[in-house]
Amino acid sequence: MTRSRPGPGSAEISAADRLLAAAEEARAHAYAPYSRFPVGAAVLSGDGRIFAGCNVENASYPVGTCAEAGAIAAMVAGGARRLAAILVLGGEDAAGLAPCGACRQRIAEFATPEAIVHCAGPAGIGRTIAAAELLPSTFGEKDLRR
Ligand code: THU
Repeated sequence: MTRSRPGPGSAEISAADRLLAAAEEARAHAYAPYSRFPVGAAVLSGDGRIFAGCNVENASYPVGTCAEAGAIAAMVAGGARRLAAILVLGGEDAAGLAPCGACRQRIAEFATPEAIVHCAGPAGIGRTIAAAELLPSTFGEKDLRR
């Protein structure tokens, strides 16, 4: 797994590296006996904390949940409401795994205007996309105001 290592004398680990490590750990616990497609995700909250999740499938297939849903639920349960970044890790594609449509909506609910989405695979982060770009013209809380 490729990572940007901190330089000599630097004790800093980048947010992207922390997200990748957390997603790797969560992915190792993914429950994906039906698809055999384990996914890990990690969220960086506005206050600098990291929350991880993995996909959890079910014998009743539609009941299964995505890794992003787990990570976002952990963030909310931890008392955070602002999502600064999310990393999704899975698959074999070097370009990295992009969140499914439903998860784009989940991300949009909590994303800050500058939030970023890291798509990662076996070679690490393949691309980083603005959350706003992943789901333009989003239906959101503003649409429910009357
Ligand atoms: N999956 C995720 O966890 N996140 C995504 O963004 C894409 C798909 C999961 C759902 C299911 O358990 C498996 O990957 C195959 O679709």
